[in-house]
Amino acid sequence: MKNILITGGCGYLGSHCAVKLIEKGYKVIIVDNLSNSDSSIIDKITKITKSKVIFYKGDIRDNKLVDKIFFQNKVDSIFHFSGLKSISESIKYPIKYYSSNVEGTINLLRAMESHNVNKIIFSSSATVYGNNYKLPWHEELCPLLPNNPYADTKLTIEKILQALSKSKILFKIGILRYFNPAGCHSSGLIGDNLENKNNLFPSILRVIMKRDKYLNIYGNNYDTKDGSGIRDYIHVNDLIEGHLKAFNYINNHDGYHLWNLGMGKGLSVYEIINVFEEKIGKKINTKIKPKREGDIAQFWSSTIKAKRELLWEPEKNIKDMVEDSVYYLQKSYNYKIFN
Ligand code: UD1
Repeated sequence: MKNILITGGCGYLGSHCAVKLIEKGYKVIIVDNLSNSDSSIIDKITKITKSKVIFYKGDIRDNKLVDKIFFQNKVDSIFHFSGLKSISESIKYPIKYYSSNVEGTINLLRAMESHNVNKIIFSSSATVYGNNYKLPWHEELCPLLPNNPYADTKLTIEKILQALSKSKILFKIGILRYFNPAGCHSSGLIGDNLENKNNLFPSILRVIMKRDKYLNIYGNNYDTKDGSGIRDYIHVNDLIEGHLKAFNYINNHDGYHLWNLGMGKGLSVYEIINVFEEKIGKKINTKIKPKREGDIAQFWSSTIKAKRELLWEPEKNIKDMVEDSVYYLQKSYNYKIFN
């Protein structure tokens, strides 16, 4: 049974990945500074998998802690999820973002080198692509032109990993460029943090829960079919399945490899709202707000490379993402669907 260290394992994606890896027979070690999550997630992972997880609360910029984790556990591979992820916040506080994301990763890689761990799967983002390039965004055709500090931290990390893959140590690196993960685990026990007011799905859930009165619609005059922003939403289960396939691939291929993980089609904010309204049988109140800084009108993924190399294809659709999200509210927040 191999030991996998998951950074950011209490977060939305990290926790789903932990469950999946445990179910596949891996032993999971989590390190998380709980900046956008809380430690109750560990109990939930244990409840779903009926297995123990080793948990370290702390920051991967802490050298001593990271070395301790490697010393105390025979770490085989890393799934690196930790990092900050708000574009607008990164524009306001760039140093915070470079420190958390880039410095944190460098520290992790330093520890990997000194402890002879050479396999890493890294959570990158479609945000690294050039915004004006024609759709769909393809890994090998689309230029890389990040337009905000958050995006730049992701691309910087990709470049560091690429440099490492050419160094004298044999690395096995898988970069996954996510589009917009949504939905949650079928248990309804883990999902996106509802304190996250940035992303669309948790923001809609906050309105359904009556934590917020309105859903802000950031821009209704984009050059899109209904004026709202269009994104490529992908079910978190499919996304995590992509990680397993990427991990399998790097186990059999040395060096540096990268893939988009998206559905390959775009949906507008209004289309998502409609699916939620149908599911809950109620209107979702909205308010039009100005476009967010750094936001763009529309993008979706080319899925050709992941299909070809990983034999990976998403199985769930937008209805599944919405249904699972509402089930999460029912199970984890005691939401009653028809009240
Ligand atoms: C972006 C980044 C992603 C990053 C994420 C974190 C890209 C390619 N993606 O996602 O890497 O991890 O931010 O914040 O740049 N919206 C509303 N009301 C809301 C929330 C969102 O109208 O309350 C709209 C947005 O304007 C956008 C869509 O919903 O059109 C999706 O927004 P969001 O969930 O924040 O994701 P991205 O901005 O695509």
